[in-house]
Amino acid sequence: MNSLSRQTLSLDKLSPEIEDFSMSNLAMIVAASTNDVIGVDGDLPWHISADLKRFKRLTMGHHLIMGRKTFESIGRCLPGRTTIIITRQLDFEFAGAQIAHSIEQAIELASGDSLPFIIGGAEIYALAMPHVSHIYLTRVHQKIDGDTLLPEIDWKHWEMVKTSTEESPAEKPESPSPEATGGPDFTFEDYQRIK
Ligand SMILES: NC(=O)c1ccc[n+]([C@@H]2O[C@H](COP(=O)([O-])OP(=O)(O)OC[C@H]3O[C@@H](n4cnc5c(N)ncnc54)[C@H](OP(=O)(O)O)[C@@H]3O)[C@@H](O)[C@H]2O)c1
Repeated sequence: MNSLSRQTLSLDKLSPEIEDFSMSNLAMIVAASTNDVIGVDGDLPWHISADLKRFKRLTMGHHLIMGRKTFESIGRCLPGRTTIIITRQLDFEFAGAQIAHSIEQAIELASGDSLPFIIGGAEIYALAMPHVSHIYLTRVHQKIDGDTLLPEIDWKHWEMVKTSTEESPAEKPESPSPEATGGPDFTFEDYQRIK
């Protein structure tokens, strides 16, 4: 996605088979700025180590469903998790990863998992959104210039079940941590779809 246009979602177009998928748990995990930017130049716009740790903790042992571009920005299969890459390229392969050619096929491949994770990017969030039951959002408290946006979410269908605010270590005057990155502040927000 090269422009700031949003991926569009429609819940009205779901076929009965796809509605069946929505009955299972499917999580989406994403970090987005206050202006809903999630990416720039094929990469994340920030480095927030607490967010990477939360990502690892939540997703460990589960299936990760991602678009081919997000996979290439990560560059490898993440240990302890099953990688599913969605691509239109029929000959695409990567050792250790499973390949799907639609969101439905990816969800099917992860069907034995109690909570598979959609990990992006924008194109795949948009495809998966109608099936998603849980959203793990990291809201980055900064306006960011980027080229990839979180698809519009109709928040009236979602209930925030947990939130915690963290301050960037570098901005805490008492913190001498060498790991301090000077990154932006952020809030972890967990949502469940309202039935
Ligand atoms: N902030 C965050 O939490 C977060 C998370 C993940 C990613 N990101 C960022 O998001 C950006 C990448 O997102 P993106 O939207 O450009 O790409 P993407 O969603 O990662 O991948 C797009 C690719 O998925 C495949 N695809 C899309 N629709 C498909 C369909 N209907 N059927 C089969 N395959 C399909 C295509 O692969 P082929 O071209 O191979 O056919 C397409 O090029 C990067 O900047 C990344 O860093 C941010």
